[in-house]
Amino acid sequence: MTQNPVTVTQLRSQHPAALIGLPGDAPLMRWSIESKTTGLSQLGYEIEASATQSFESTIEVAVGSGPEQFGIEAPGGSLASREQRFYRVRVETEAGWSDWSESFCFEAGLLSAQDFIAQAITDGSKHSEPAALLRREFVTSAKPVSARLYVSAHGVYDVMINGLAVADEFLNPGWTAYQDRLNVATFDVTKHVRSGANAIGVELADGWFRGKLGFMNKYDNYGSQTAVLAQLEMTFEDGSVQTLCTDESFKCSTGETRFASIYDGTTTDYNFEQCGWAAPGFDDSSWKAAQLAEIDKASLHPRIADPIQEIERFPMRLEQHADRVQLDAGQNVAGWVELIVEGKKGQQVTVRHAEVLNPDGTLHTQALRSAKATDVYTLGRDGRQTLVPKFTFHGFQHADVVTDAEVVSGVAIAISSNTAKRSHFASSDIRLNRLHENVVWSQRDNFVGLPTDCPQRDERLGWTGDAQAFAYAANTLVDAEAFWRSWLIDLELDQDEAGNVAAVVPDLISLQPMPSNEWEVMGRAGWADAATIVPVATYETYGSVDILKQQLGSMRRWTDALHNRRKGEKFLPTEFQFGDWCDPDAPSDRPWEAKVSADYVANSFFAHTAVLTARAERLVGSDEGASKYQAMADELKQNIWAEFGEHARSTTAGCSIALEFEICPESERESVAKILAGMVRKDDGMITTGFLGTPLILHALSKAGYFEEAYLMLMRREVRSWLYQVERGATTIWERWDAIKEDGSIHAGEMDTANEHQEDESMISFNHYAYGAVVDWVYRNVAGLAPTAANPGYRTTIVAPRPASGFSSAEACIRTSYGNVSIEWEVVSCGDLSAVLRVPFGVTAELDLPVSADSQLFVNGESMNNGSSLGYGEYVISVSKPSIVRFK
Ligand code: BGC
Repeated sequence: MTQNPVTVTQLRSQHPAALIGLPGDAPLMRWSIESKTTGLSQLGYEIEASATQSFESTIEVAVGSGPEQFGIEAPGGSLASREQRFYRVRVETEAGWSDWSESFCFEAGLLSAQDFIAQAITDGSKHSEPAALLRREFVTSAKPVSARLYVSAHGVYDVMINGLAVADEFLNPGWTAYQDRLNVATFDVTKHVRSGANAIGVELADGWFRGKLGFMNKYDNYGSQTAVLAQLEMTFEDGSVQTLCTDESFKCSTGETRFASIYDGTTTDYNFEQCGWAAPGFDDSSWKAAQLAEIDKASLHPRIADPIQEIERFPMRLEQHADRVQLDAGQNVAGWVELIVEGKKGQQVTVRHAEVLNPDGTLHTQALRSAKATDVYTLGRDGRQTLVPKFTFHGFQHADVVTDAEVVSGVAIAISSNTAKRSHFASSDIRLNRLHENVVWSQRDNFVGLPTDCPQRDERLGWTGDAQAFAYAANTLVDAEAFWRSWLIDLELDQDEAGNVAAVVPDLISLQPMPSNEWEVMGRAGWADAATIVPVATYETYGSVDILKQQLGSMRRWTDALHNRRKGEKFLPTEFQFGDWCDPDAPSDRPWEAKVSADYVANSFFAHTAVLTARAERLVGSDEGASKYQAMADELKQNIWAEFGEHARSTTAGCSIALEFEICPESERESVAKILAGMVRKDDGMITTGFLGTPLILHALSKAGYFEEAYLMLMRREVRSWLYQVERGATTIWERWDAIKEDGSIHAGEMDTANEHQEDESMISFNHYAYGAVVDWVYRNVAGLAPTAANPGYRTTIVAPRPASGFSSAEACIRTSYGNVSIEWEVVSCGDLSAVLRVPFGVTAELDLPVSADSQLFVNGESMNNGSSLGYGEYVISVSKPSIVRFK
């Protein structure tokens, strides 16, 4: 019998593959296919569900026809708490049925409040006091064949069993809309539990729950008591189960972590270390009994997003100064310094952090505002030792160490939500490559549990405007589908009764309102619209219709809230808006006073939101809903253009919004694009847009054919450009274009200087990803790989490189759900364009190559035309006399 050429690989669900303890809904399966021969297609599939990995007995089989490999509901229905189910799939192609794939195991968590018999416990401490240690010993009669630990907390925690950490994860349970939703992590601790004496230990700190949080510097935002709830379930060979729960039998004390704050850093005194406290046999007779605490069990939900983990280490360069040792990681990261020192008991080591240095070589700490970002250690013994802070993180590249001990070495540990890398980009222009890398790092540094504005100052909040601006770029760079799925649940939970979406999610601002009432922050244009833009971006880039199903209610409520705010009038009332925030032509301390009218921007985002909601309705809701929101959008657009059209034409942001959100009528698109291109040329590619206009402008230009102007902006090196930052040594994306000025001085970051309530003036960050949105354009147009709205998730990939003068090559690879789609192109010596394109099974590539009137296009030696579709396989493409964008 000849072997079937088709293999099914990477069978998985919509959740991160490494997670166990997931929600119990039937998983949505997806798989990739590899084939030794070309020309095949998936005709059908069979998915089998079983309780055992050997598939001896079947729970249910699902048979389907057609090419779908993504988002298919698994057979067998929903799972019960703790249930483990195995799935495998085989597919039918023209070559017959493939073998079964390797099996995929899905494990449900504790799904109802009743499943939690553990009680939450606390040490009764107050904020800013030493972190709590909570411990208990227990005995087992044998080594369990399986052990699961379910944990959640008010605060942030680390758990150890028998002295060993249960996972390489940080800052659990992350920051969610705590009032309604607390993540439960499930750890496989089978290897940790022994036969006989065992011990479990939890270290618990303030974290986001009650530590200092927000630019108002408030404590106890969610409550004044930290608490942990843990349930360890051990199954033995004979099928018996032993459960160990947090309760009053736990004892508590404190250890070396004397103070731990997300913003301020950690104070660690190793003289307080209680060696072996999380192992059996430790004498805890002097410890107090833990007290019972309150965690609402209805708020407990299985976590669904990737944990926060170490993602990279950068050895730091050491420079000895008279009064300090200065360390440089060479890369701006979110994380901490792991320091090795040689010292004596009692010596102090202070580590301060900053993203950049002042011109005089000192740390630029003004950007941190009130965040102290300082880790202080007191050594507990003589000799060489490694110092690491806990329950904090800093945004930094540089650190100053002040100590009498000898600093041996330092390593910058970068942490992030461990979303899998999804893409690769490189080109012959090293500055553009560095820009790409800078965006990658701003993404990594700002996805620490939630999408934050920045990782360094007393903010680190889930600003919705920044998230929507960056969503497409983020989705191109990493597999952020689960990350958004989790955060969007919080976004919906934090919508107010009227349906308004918060400016930051989790909505801390409602918990600590601003002193002046001038700033209404719920439901602001371009921020609240994350409710529609992020789900649609996620749908388009990953192909996941379930994200739209999940969010449709939230999208409707936000669109209705906008509609209701009009009270029967044509437009939204004039109110405070962030507007095209940080327009570089706005007064530098009043970033909301952009050139483009905030009313025009607000109504245009409203229209765009209505269009996106109509789209979601069409896909997963009702036709009536679709017609209702589409009609709302159409009428609004007409009115906007009649009222604001003239004004919109006068600014780059105005034109970009008009074109990208299709506010201007079709008949005027050409003239608006021409005006926009003219302005860009006049400004010599200098950036004149803020947070809302910048993500749109290059798309607005290039879709109208103005590639020269788009490249002029992208490749500009003088101030107010992406590459200016690169040339100034940036390793992440800045909040202000001239954060480091041409003379080397640092922008003062003035903010609302006329406001008596504004105490801390600085708003200057070197790690704000919003402007990094540009890499989405780079993938689509420089390398030339783009997903389509109609056939999302790169199922149809548009191959449209637009080589420009100065570039001899570019390449990109996107790890789609189907497999890797990649392109490598170069302009060869005769001036022709030569490219290698790889298309995975299940994906169709549509050619839109840079042909001129005299070009000939060959694919694997055969003459072809643009518009042709290519199925899976590897293709060598050549375009003679290609059209090259000449931009300067
Ligand atoms: C944040 C921004 C945010 C803005 C809105 C700033 O402080 O850092 O990124 O979107 O406020 O007002």
